[in-house]
Amino acid sequence: MFNRPLTDATDARLRAQRVLPRLVFDYIDGAAGQEVGEVRNRDVLRGMALQTRILRDVQQRRLSTTVLGETADLPFGIAPMGMCNLAWPGADLMLARLAARENVPHGLSTVASTSMERVWEASQGKAWFQLYYSGDGEGTIKLVERAKAVGYRTLVLTVDVPEVGRRPRELKQGFKMPFRMGPRTFTDFAVHPHWSLTSLVRGAPSLGNFGPADQKRGFVFDRTESRAGADWDFFDRLRAIWPGPLVVKGVLDPRDAAELQKRGADAIQVSSHGGRQIDGGVGPVQALPKVRKAVGPDFPVFFDSGLRSGEDVLKVLALGADYAFLGRPLQFAIAARQERGLTEYWESVKAELSIAMAMTGLTDVKDASTDILATD
Ligand SMILES: Cc1cc2nc3c(=O)[nH]c(=O)nc-3n(C[C@H](O)[C@H](O)[C@H](O)COP(=O)(O)O)c2cc1C
Repeated sequence: MFNRPLTDATDARLRAQRVLPRLVFDYIDGAAGQEVGEVRNRDVLRGMALQTRILRDVQQRRLSTTVLGETADLPFGIAPMGMCNLAWPGADLMLARLAARENVPHGLSTVASTSMERVWEASQGKAWFQLYYSGDGEGTIKLVERAKAVGYRTLVLTVDVPEVGRRPRELKQGFKMPFRMGPRTFTDFAVHPHWSLTSLVRGAPSLGNFGPADQKRGFVFDRTESRAGADWDFFDRLRAIWPGPLVVKGVLDPRDAAELQKRGADAIQVSSHGGRQIDGGVGPVQALPKVRKAVGPDFPVFFDSGLRSGEDVLKVLALGADYAFLGRPLQFAIAARQERGLTEYWESVKAELSIAMAMTGLTDVKDASTDILATD
């Protein structure tokens, strides 16, 4: 039974839960407050129905698309996530290799557990650097210069973390970044020996961009340092120094979207950070059509939060997104069955998307529109 391939996101999550210490599972799985926001977003998505059609000759189906001027073989990529190596040692590089193989973007977090240099190489140029503003912004700009020097072309500025959200499950488990194995968590680790022994042998994950050598070069990150100082002037400054595509992630208000468009962003990513920031906030699926309307039909709009299946991906493309990103399920797939689990889950999303296209009469994913959504 344990050798059975992963079938879907639910399977990945359940099997990850068995393998991971509670501290780690709750960090990945958790959300803000009572997790109402996250559940509601999933409910909205589940409540949407795809309109199936018949007799349309759907033998040839194209899943590839264009994202920021480049071809991507699939309309979904990898959302930036901090500390992925907590799911399993080497997780960041597994994601980078997947991005290279599948020709899709891989968001590499500021607080990734592997350095931007290593991931850039492993992803064969598919990585996008995700930036957090922090403190007075000077360290942030330094990091941008480093990403530019490494060769990163696309920068993703995450704007929905003016303060780190309050996540009760992290607080209960005493989760801290940088991550440490302490006596308090001893039993938790002891009853999950596969994960614990592997992490012990391979080394506990740390912040890949802020190791001892980086610190000597002036790269430091303090998760508790306020990120609340980011403002429009900072955005303008960043726009002025970043020559390539600039994506702004975590936008849920059409007015903010229109302002970003005016000030020169190249794309907007509608996202609630997977519900990790605020419990009672507006849901990203509800915000998506309004954001699309505010920026017009041709401006690139991306989406993440709550996507679990190929059908979910198709639904948000139909609602107006040009590109989608997956988050937690990728980490759960890795925790459950490492790189082969990641591939199995990834293939399941592809298959679901392709079948959903056949069922809705679509031969080109770029043609997804509200036409394929049932209206009532
Ligand atoms: C464990 C974890 C860590 C994350 N770290 C970051 C991060 O460092 N930067 C960022 O922009 N988003 C981060 N996110 C948010 C994701 O990019 C994405 O918005 C979210 O996971 C999408 O929701 P989903 O997990 O429900 O698919 C993180 C999400 C998770 C679950």
